[in-house]
Amino acid sequence: MNGYKTLNPTEFDLKSWHPYMIGSVVPRPIAWVTTIDGQGRPNLAPFSYFNIFSSKPPIAIFSPSTSARTGDLKDTHKNLLEVPECVIHLVPYALAARMNITTGEYARGINEIVKAGLKTIPSEAVKPPRIAGTPVQMEAQLRQIISLGENPGAGQLMIVEIVRLHLAEDILDEQGLPDPRKMDIIARLGGFWYLRIRPENLFWMKQPRDPNEVMSWEDLPADIRESPILSAADIGHLLANPPQGGERLRNSSPPANYIEVHRKMKALLPHAPQQAWTLYLEALRE
Ligand SMILES: Cc1cc2nc3c(=O)[nH]c(=O)nc-3n(C[C@H](O)[C@H](O)[C@H](O)COP(=O)(O)O)c2cc1C
Repeated sequence: MNGYKTLNPTEFDLKSWHPYMIGSVVPRPIAWVTTIDGQGRPNLAPFSYFNIFSSKPPIAIFSPSTSARTGDLKDTHKNLLEVPECVIHLVPYALAARMNITTGEYARGINEIVKAGLKTIPSEAVKPPRIAGTPVQMEAQLRQIISLGENPGAGQLMIVEIVRLHLAEDILDEQGLPDPRKMDIIARLGGFWYLRIRPENLFWMKQPRDPNEVMSWEDLPADIRESPILSAADIGHLLANPPQGGERLRNSSPPANYIEVHRKMKALLPHAPQQAWTLYLEALRE
């Protein structure tokens, strides 16, 4: 016993293993996909085995597995074999319950768009329609299918190239980019749990471009490294936002009242790490 439950996938059948898969990699975005069959009949279904994998070319992959019940290919997969085009939508919270309606395994040719009472918008570069009221819509063409097996539950990777991206104007920031604070989309978690992206759950963290922008843990003064007050997360924020010449602090002796200084620094984290450092440097000079 080391604090972990360790599992070997080969010892599980699909039904007992699947909940570990979908419960462990979370949150997953949901591709809500429209396709049409050879007769032009539309289909809409959600897939959370989904992400983007390349910006140029702009590539997304989602995976309608073979049916866990019948081993048959999903309608979305069959449609892509007949008409190799789709539109991928992100699901807004406002349409969460409608999305859930479209997951039912309806007979081929049943129009889930009508079932869920959704409205469509014509696409520009592909034949399947767009779903109105969704904030992000990607018209895409099928590039390749990679089958991961023929057994029930085996993933079938639909590798698609995005040929048009439509962004609702009310989700854009001043630069015209999607603003995550305005999107209110949902993502899939384990079981029947979902996540709703709300501004209060977001935080902002700039990616360091150059290694000198961050400080190395060994360069932290010993009192900070071993602080009984600052948490691992606090120290991470201090490392990611170092003071000028921070590497010179490595061998400095702690400020006289360092516990008190750490308390004041903690109060400034995570939002004002630079101020926390200024406070520390002032205490060192005292
Ligand atoms: C949020 C959500 C995510 C889902 N993700 C997947 C998935 O990634 N792969 C899959 O095969 N089925 C997934 N399903 C189930 C499919 O939506 C379901 O099998 C659907 O009937 C397939 O529709 P189709 O046969 O019209 O293609 C998901 C269901 C929900 C509600």
